[in-house]
Amino acid sequence: MRTPIIAGNWKMNKTLPESVAFVEELAKALAPYSTVERVVAPTFVSLAAVSSVLANTEIAVSSQNVHWEDSGAYTSEVAPVMIQDLVEYAIIGHSECRAYLNETDEKVNKKAKAALAHGIKPIIAVGESLEQNEAGETTSFVGGQVRAALDGIPAEDMPKVVIAYEPIWAIGTGKSASGEIAQNIIGGTIRSVLIDLYGDAVAQQVRIQYGGSVKPNNMEEYMSQPDVDGALVGGASLKVDAFTDLVRIAAEVKGS
Ligand code: PGA
Repeated sequence: MRTPIIAGNWKMNKTLPESVAFVEELAKALAPYSTVERVVAPTFVSLAAVSSVLANTEIAVSSQNVHWEDSGAYTSEVAPVMIQDLVEYAIIGHSECRAYLNETDEKVNKKAKAALAHGIKPIIAVGESLEQNEAGETTSFVGGQVRAALDGIPAEDMPKVVIAYEPIWAIGTGKSASGEIAQNIIGGTIRSVLIDLYGDAVAQQVRIQYGGSVKPNNMEEYMSQPDVDGALVGGASLKVDAFTDLVRIAAEVKGS
């Protein structure tokens, strides 16, 4: 059984005091749902404070990015060694980083390996654009992103890896893929690539999230899909009530 994992990607939202106040409230609201892994991903500015507030809770902290080098002339970047004691996860390859920060498949792969080498579990985001979707290229494109991201990552590390399928056309747009589409790409494409690369036993252990306009009113549809192991959530993770609803629905639908 794969433990469902719901991660809130705050993107560029919440100041340091807002982040602290938010997780103080969120920690209480999420406490009952221990069958679901609960993760928050604040900005780098708030990581240390949020990590300290959540230290004695079951809620895990993620960064939204991480560099692959330990140090050096990389202005504005943050090394894995700098956050390894603050986070359990790092989101890598988010479509906004791929689009605005020139995060290529090669960089995603280097970051994923560097994260793992520092005991940080990568949440690797993949997903196709609207044009690729309409051209019927989703399977080949997303499959290629997964293969590139995992290049050289050994089977024994794979239980620590989370993959998030986020069709770009569904992120922040209010348009979401149907549960059936999410299941088809996550089960049919992504898990098949994992089976091809690592064999069935390993592939069945890897958690794959859906992301893109996940809200309390469509959460049940996603969580009812057998291969959808959770969600990577932007907008709806910024409010305690909405995020708690998502976690509660995951707990109800996926059971213990
Ligand atoms: P959204 O963002 O839930 O606001 O669509 C999802 C994401 O970008 O991870």
